[in-house]
Amino acid sequence: MIWFLNGKYIPSHLALIPIADISVLRGYGVFDFLVTYKQKPFMLTEHVDRLFASASKIGLKVPYTRKEISGFVLRLIAKNKDKAKDFTLRLVVTGGVSSSNLFPEGKANTAILIEKRMPYPASCYNFGIKLKSFEYLRPFASAKHIDYLTAAVEKRKANKAGFLEVLYTCDGRILECTTSNFYLVQNGVVITPKADILHGITKKVVLNLARKHFKVEEREVLMSELSSASEVFISASDKEIMPVIKIDGFKIGPGAPGPVCQKIMTEFKKITRS
Ligand SMILES: Cc1ncc(COP(=O)(O)O)c(C=O)c1O
Repeated sequence: MIWFLNGKYIPSHLALIPIADISVLRGYGVFDFLVTYKQKPFMLTEHVDRLFASASKIGLKVPYTRKEISGFVLRLIAKNKDKAKDFTLRLVVTGGVSSSNLFPEGKANTAILIEKRMPYPASCYNFGIKLKSFEYLRPFASAKHIDYLTAAVEKRKANKAGFLEVLYTCDGRILECTTSNFYLVQNGVVITPKADILHGITKKVVLNLARKHFKVEEREVLMSELSSASEVFISASDKEIMPVIKIDGFKIGPGAPGPVCQKIMTEFKKITRS
């Protein structure tokens, strides 16, 4: 694959940054992640905007304009177009090398990694998935920064135990999953956490679709509300929308994908596959 690094399109194995970059030394950097449908990047403007918003929240300056970054993405897809039907793209901006080994000094490295998109098994969508809860509030939760240490540790444990995702909770509140947003359905109302989360781009699409057919509430969501939920589902760029049938040992509703989730999945397919 051809990747992008600091203005150059180069083979992926040559896309290297210095080990003294504060992304390596301190975990200081941001990224965004998007997918393509028929080789077209989905919601590109929104993902690029979120990249800039994330960088601003941690005090990092992206060394290109939004228009330039969008242009790099389109050119990179064109350069790799024969290598796969669809792609995932990771836009990364690191803190760069710094004399203090802590604060950025305007030497950010900008990279775009492109890979073949691998679909999740159909069973995740047809039968639903299981979540494992874990008490954790992501620092700078509304920014997509590169600290996914808790995700890497806890998701591996959860996957080994048969759970697809980890659900972050904090003092009885439900927040989000390691790389997905969370929704529950109560009396036909779609309810989703509002604060202390990363606002997913897929979530934006999901809520717009949901509002056409159901009442939607963005508010604090409590773990104690799971007992009255008829459905739960999650969303993310690569997973799209996945029904959830169990959280820890607790069965959600009848333990099968529900009609609200199925309706939103169908509508989402219509816009992404058209
Ligand atoms: C913490 C977190 N929440 C939610 C999401 C879903 O965001 P999106 O729909 O933009 O993929 C992600 C995506 O990776 C994430 O990392």
